[in-house]
Amino acid sequence: MNMPETGPLLSLRDIYKIYTMGESEVFALNGISLTIEKGEFVSIMGPSGSGKSTCMHIIGCLDHPTSGDIFISGKNTSQMNAKELAVLRNKTVGFVFQQYNLISNMTVLENVMLPLRYQGLSISERKARAVEVLERIGLSDRLKHTPGELSGGQKQRTAIARATVTNPELILADEPTGALDSETGNSVIDLFHDINKNGTTILIVTHDQDIGNTAPRRIHLRDGKITEDSCV
Ligand SMILES: Nc1ncnc2c1ncn2[C@@H]1O[C@H](COP(=O)(O)OP(=O)(O)O)[C@@H](O)[C@H]1O
Ligand SMILES: [Mg+2]
Repeated sequence: MNMPETGPLLSLRDIYKIYTMGESEVFALNGISLTIEKGEFVSIMGPSGSGKSTCMHIIGCLDHPTSGDIFISGKNTSQMNAKELAVLRNKTVGFVFQQYNLISNMTVLENVMLPLRYQGLSISERKARAVEVLERIGLSDRLKHTPGELSGGQKQRTAIARATVTNPELILADEPTGALDSETGNSVIDLFHDINKNGTTILIVTHDQDIGNTAPRRIHLRDGKITEDSCV
């Protein structure tokens, strides 16, 4: 008998992240509860300082909450050890950042091969996988270039190739169009929608309403709280 698919991909329960600055406390996240099902495309919008990046870092287990629980595929991440968390970050989650975070002295191909290093594949298998993803993303003629030789849009496509090469269930993108002109930004968003059509769950942070409104589900943050969570 097959095991049933149990529960949502992601669940946050009453998450607080409090920074202590001398005498004062900053509630970067002030009681966030949120459930995201497999295959959703969700945008998180809100003004600067509303807690968007903090929320993404906590979801991606790059940072710990002060209190509250995060469940990924039903597993409570606060009960995972460092090794289990590293596997989760490498296999389940793909990250895309505003400033691309590519390694500047590596080629496009090497950057995209990097996350496969920990997956027990041979170099030729890693290369074949990376080339396949880069071809699909329209960068097959840039494999040997370094990031410095790419346009902003090409850099972000490389970063998206790197984030998707491991076939993660969840892509977290923090202001992925923030450094791009609007036309290039729109093509990057189209790419996320294409990736979502293959079943990958996408969570995208933006302060740009037009970009955020391309998502069927939109979450608004203000002062570390969810003020709106709506589906169209
Ligand atoms: N490492 C930190 N130390 C202290 N305060 C922080 C830190 N990181 C973020 N904050 C504060 O937490 C709040 C939320 O920040 P952030 O999540 O980066 O917001 P956003 O991404 O929406 O602009 C802000 O008030 C910010 O100043
Ligand atoms: Mg931010």
